[in-house]
Amino acid sequence: MQKITIAVDGYSSCGKSTTAKKVAARLGYSYIDTGAMYRAVTLYFHQHLVTLTNDKEVAKALDNIQIEFRRNAHDGRNETYLNGLNVEDEIRKLYIANKVSEVSAIPAVRHAMVAQQRKMGKKKGVVMDGRDIGTVVFPDAELKIFMTADPIIRANRRQIELNERGELVDIEDIIENIKKRDLIDTTRAESPLRKAEDAIEIDTSYMTLDEQVESVCLLSDAALSKV
Ligand code: DC
Repeated sequence: MQKITIAVDGYSSCGKSTTAKKVAARLGYSYIDTGAMYRAVTLYFHQHLVTLTNDKEVAKALDNIQIEFRRNAHDGRNETYLNGLNVEDEIRKLYIANKVSEVSAIPAVRHAMVAQQRKMGKKKGVVMDGRDIGTVVFPDAELKIFMTADPIIRANRRQIELNERGELVDIEDIIENIKKRDLIDTTRAESPLRKAEDAIEIDTSYMTLDEQVESVCLLSDAALSKV
């Protein structure tokens, strides 16, 4: 059966990963959360006190980082492993969110992650979410989605997500983190977050998760019929 590559880009907390995960499950595709990869690098840099401005230290650290996704046998969830250790919960914490944009703006970090992502998705049949999937990682993806949502709605979603993980964070701190990350992500020199010319924009502010999944699956059917 023909399979395609689906690139899902956009701002944080627009529903990208939840939607991408469900779309992948429905289509029988694999799902790759590239944000988790940048978060895992950020955790490693934090644990090993890597100086972000020291190119040698950064290169050496990148050589020692191995990231993979493993399926949790208990609930089928895809979890992030850093050098063989499950870091899925740790990388979602706010102290990582506060550092990740800075780390993911480093060209050497991006080159290493993009190379790995291309390997992971080379067989097609993949839904990959991130910031530069449709523009840099897979510019030839058959379907490119760009997700947006109102910043206040995004902050509310992020607060619920953090609460569910037991992290009680003030909404003002979340809004500040979102604004700061948006600014760094869209203005960095190396592959900034931007909508690919041929991407289809979906504003999820007032959409339910089911509606988001449905719309991407319909677009995927349409894209498949063209290959
Ligand atoms: O999707 P997320 O919030 O888990 O992503 C974490 C950070 O990683 C985000 O601030 C931007 C960065 N990122 C990136 O630069 N490129 C990607 N393809 C994915 C994420």
